Amino acid sequence: MIVRVVVKSEKVPDLTLQPLSILVLHGPNLNLLGQREPGIYGSFTLAEINHLLAAEGLKLQVEVYPVQSNHEGVLVDTIHEAFGKHQGILINAGAYTHTSVALRDAIAGVSLPTVEVHLSNIYRREEFRHHSYIAPVAIGQISGFGVQSYILGLHAIVQHLRKD
Ligand code: DQA
Repeated sequence: MIVRVVVKSEKVPDLTLQPLSILVLHGPNLNLLGQREPGIYGSFTLAEINHLLAAEGLKLQVEVYPVQSNHEGVLVDTIHEAFGKHQGILINAGAYTHTSVALRDAIAGVSLPTVEVHLSNIYRREEFRHHSYIAPVAIGQISGFGVQSYILGLHAIVQHLRKD
């Protein structure tokens, strides 16, 4: 007996063709990674994280543009400038996650798909870290996987952008 398996291919996203550019935004104090509370944030430096993201971007055929700032207004400006330049945003807003209506409004304003990431699991930490102003305007959030949060976040935004 011959058994034929028919695989429906219409729903399979084409991961090879679409050129994508992703803005990777790092908020305040993330420039100190490597030396900053390594028990919480791990020992990777920001440069190493950006390097890993660039390498992962190569595999996924996307360009990643990392920007770090300790200044809320600079982060807002960078989000505005992303419109028309990048197709998605991967953001670790650091402490501004828990305080910044301005960042939230900027993301909503440019209407670019955004994935929020955190190295630490913000829900296992102090109560003031449990609330995110970014989460309601993000397509999703990844929290608690150290440097893998960024890698998973990059996969999530690319998958979202390439879905049919
Ligand atoms: C963080 C968590 C925030 O609460 C904190 O203020 C940070 C880093 C994280 O990646 O775990 O700066 O966003």
